[in-house]
Amino acid sequence: MDLAVDPRAVESLLAFWADAGVEASYADDPIDRLAEGAAMLRARREPTPPPVAAPVITPAFGRPDLGATVAEAKALAAACADLPALAAAIAAFDGCPLKTQGARQAVVSRGPADAPLMVIGEAPGADEDAQGAPFVGRAGQLLDRMLKAAGVLDRTFVTNTVFWRPPGNRTPTPQEQAVCAPFLERAIQLVQPKILLLVGGASAKSMLRREEGILSLRGRWFEWTSSDGQIELPALPTLHPAFLLRKPDAKKKAWTDMLMLSERLDRPERPH
Ligand code: URA
Repeated sequence: MDLAVDPRAVESLLAFWADAGVEASYADDPIDRLAEGAAMLRARREPTPPPVAAPVITPAFGRPDLGATVAEAKALAAACADLPALAAAIAAFDGCPLKTQGARQAVVSRGPADAPLMVIGEAPGADEDAQGAPFVGRAGQLLDRMLKAAGVLDRTFVTNTVFWRPPGNRTPTPQEQAVCAPFLERAIQLVQPKILLLVGGASAKSMLRREEGILSLRGRWFEWTSSDGQIELPALPTLHPAFLLRKPDAKKKAWTDMLMLSERLDRPERPH
């Protein structure tokens, strides 16, 4: 039997799978993501280790201790003095499995580095993966229109809970969010926003460490606290614009959230 592989046959098969929406291959054995997620949440509660001089980057797969990956992310993030350094550290980080599941590049942020409002979405999609900036597709355009109508667009920094596109636009796992969280937290430290807008259930649940769905969380103020307890910020969960594109009736609720947001952002700060 001739075992030589015809490259054209392989290309044709891959194109067939890509057309069918299959964008990544998985291991043969099932992975217990819930157990991994619980381990990650435990690791996130552990105190930040002191910054190390030259952090060692190891491959994402086959890591026996996922907590070590979070510790590595914390050390790398802590060593970043500004946003360009943070973006470079994220791009070089090999600890998030999403990086090797078909994403073209790291998608980090857009917007002014001293913005008083930080929008935190779920994960980059196909347009963001292609262009290298968050919320630039249809959902992002709707988000921008809403922020503009609320008078806050030019004061907004935009990022996500994870920095690589999950295959097939699936929801990022708690494990993936946990290994990216130290970088996100460092972005919050550097930008020093007054308010966080948590867009969609995957963002709100991860940032607030709550289990309720977005329809129950949205439109209420919560307090976000950094893992070292040093930063506390008001955080408002709201509906994801991709959901609003599918269910335009829900736009009224999202608009109520935008008004709450702009009112608080424009509220004069009380003298200390
Ligand atoms: N959806 C998100 O949550 N984030 C993006 O950047 C794009 C779409």
